[in-house]
Amino acid sequence: MSARGKFITFEGIDGAGKSSHLDFACELVRARGFEAARTFEPGGTPFGQRLREVVLKQHTTPLAEAIAMFAARSAHVEAIIEPALAAGHWVVCDRFSDSTYAYQCGGRGLDAGLVAKLEEIVHPGLQPDATFLFDVDPATAAARQGGRGREADRFESELSDFHIRVRNAYLDRARRFARRIHLIDAAGAPEEVRARLAAEFTRAFP
Ligand code: TYD
Repeated sequence: MSARGKFITFEGIDGAGKSSHLDFACELVRARGFEAARTFEPGGTPFGQRLREVVLKQHTTPLAEAIAMFAARSAHVEAIIEPALAAGHWVVCDRFSDSTYAYQCGGRGLDAGLVAKLEEIVHPGLQPDATFLFDVDPATAAARQGGRGREADRFESELSDFHIRVRNAYLDRARRFARRIHLIDAAGAPEEVRARLAAEFTRAFP
């Protein structure tokens, strides 16, 4: 039987550009001789995809948003993440519970204690082995979003103070979980950001 795989998550505010680096992280995993499973939240399962559409379009309370994200997460952990880790694959996941702390707590003011309880119910004992936090100032992120040529969703079109609060919540978590969360300066050209990711990946998995 193969050893359990590693669980890697990517985090950052909308427009930080993290999604474009997920394939590169999978290449780094394969270069180590492991299989890489790329996935994402909240839409990583058909159930999560449906919930994502509701939550991104329909205004509700911060607690209802958090519960919906954790409902999607529960399905995702059971159907995709745990089976892949158990098979020895390394999972590279775009967003996980740090997003709920950043968006619903930092952005919307939900009590972090409630999210801690949801984590305990939905993924007790499961935390990422490493999280790469792509950090960029909200103005740069908004400019990147603007260039995408599609309509912004409900979270993306929030006022930038919302994104400032989300970013600050991420940075607080990066300080608090300094060993797990690797901060990556996501300003600059994609090749520069990629080089920073490669360096942090080596630090996380020497
Ligand atoms: P989506 O377009 O699916 O992905 P991304 O922005 O990562 O490319 O948007 C997901 C949005 O949902 C994004 O704005 C972050 C937000 N979100 C939360 O508010 N809480 C969460 O727990 C998660 C996973 C995402």
